[in-house]
Amino acid sequence: MAQPKYTTHHGMVDILPDEIRKWHFLEDLIRTEAEKFNFEEIRTPIMEQTELIVRGLGQMTDIVSKEIFSFSRGEDNYVLRPELTAPVVRAYVENRLDQRGGSQKLYYIGPMFRAERPQKGRQRQFHQFGLEIMGSSDAIADAEVIAFMIHIYRKIGIKNTTLKLNSIGDPESREKYKAALKAHLKPNFEKLSEVSQKRFENNPLRILDSKEEEDRPFIETAPLLTNYLSETSVNHYTKVKEYLGDLGIPFVEDPYLVRGMDYYTETAFELISPDLGAQDALAGGGRYDLLVEEIGGMPTPAVGFAAGMERLFIACEEMGIHLGSEKKVDVYIVTLGDAARKWGLLQLSALREKGISATMDYMGRSMKAQMKDANRENARFAIIVGENELKEGKFTFRDMVKSEEMLLSFKEILNVLF
Ligand code: HAM
Repeated sequence: MAQPKYTTHHGMVDILPDEIRKWHFLEDLIRTEAEKFNFEEIRTPIMEQTELIVRGLGQMTDIVSKEIFSFSRGEDNYVLRPELTAPVVRAYVENRLDQRGGSQKLYYIGPMFRAERPQKGRQRQFHQFGLEIMGSSDAIADAEVIAFMIHIYRKIGIKNTTLKLNSIGDPESREKYKAALKAHLKPNFEKLSEVSQKRFENNPLRILDSKEEEDRPFIETAPLLTNYLSETSVNHYTKVKEYLGDLGIPFVEDPYLVRGMDYYTETAFELISPDLGAQDALAGGGRYDLLVEEIGGMPTPAVGFAAGMERLFIACEEMGIHLGSEKKVDVYIVTLGDAARKWGLLQLSALREKGISATMDYMGRSMKAQMKDANRENARFAIIVGENELKEGKFTFRDMVKSEEMLLSFKEILNVLF
């Protein structure tokens, strides 16, 4: 076949009907479980002002400096949202959600956009689900966010995961640490990878996250952020670990875990899976106690996480987990002739009215072709109707699973169906 003239944008994919049931399954699961945790859904626009994302995530981050889809219209500059923490904070401030009282427990599901180099588990349009708790500085909130994240993967049966945990402390501790880290790296600056050299001045913490071989020896001997934490940060981190222990959630402390956005403070975490290959993060999150104020709201501590939905599906495939049910329909009406087709059309609405899913042929195909179609559609029952059946008021009612047929009036068929 010739190449299609129009295709999706590089790194963006269609979700086709054969795959949609796993998406519905996951979305339903997230909604049901989020309600159990008493979270409420929030939906924000796909586009945000560029300034919000730059301020929120940080000018020097990879996302903002390299991966943003941006465009302008007149005087206004927009981006396609690369994540939802900054937009949710914007919505919280703009709509005065603090006025609803208590801490706000919000969840979301939706598409995000990052112009990264596409590869397995990395797309330019991908989907996240996530939670944000606004208004609590208590380590209980951190524990609840992590507990929800773990709960979802456990429910699905994805077992091969590691929760990595770290504290990146408050800004003062971090500044002290940055100075120490730079002093440690400086004598070997020339030996660092090109990416790390670039990060040295503006974003030295991200050097800890480097995957480049030549950086390894210098990272391994680097001072540890954990040793620079203030007493308050240490206490908070200790509580988070204590609660996770109480909840039976295993974790591995990773002093090199720094996240990709500048808004993080205190707790940082990532859930990784060896089944994913190079893009091994299933989900990630942490505290961002200063972001609400940064964006123009009242000082409001907050914590959250987001998970990649495509990566969750990859993990399922690797583990042989099948999500979502098979495509099926309750009744297929097989019709022969115009009068039968009209009768079929009317009975379709009668059946649907009673909550039964029903379909028929729209292509005027032969009976054999329609029966084949009923099989393909995974129909539980078929009602076969031609001119004679209409005259007699009795129809062939076929149980497609048992391969049994009965001659019944439509009323009798309804009785069998209920
Ligand atoms: P993030 O680590 O940038 O955090 O993204 C969360 C998850 O989204 C990743 O662990 C990964 O599974 C998925 N993901 C990221 N980029 C891609 C991509 N290009 N293709 C496929 N999947 C991807 C955040 O977005 C933060 N907003 C999380 C958060 C919420 N922090 C606090 N609250």
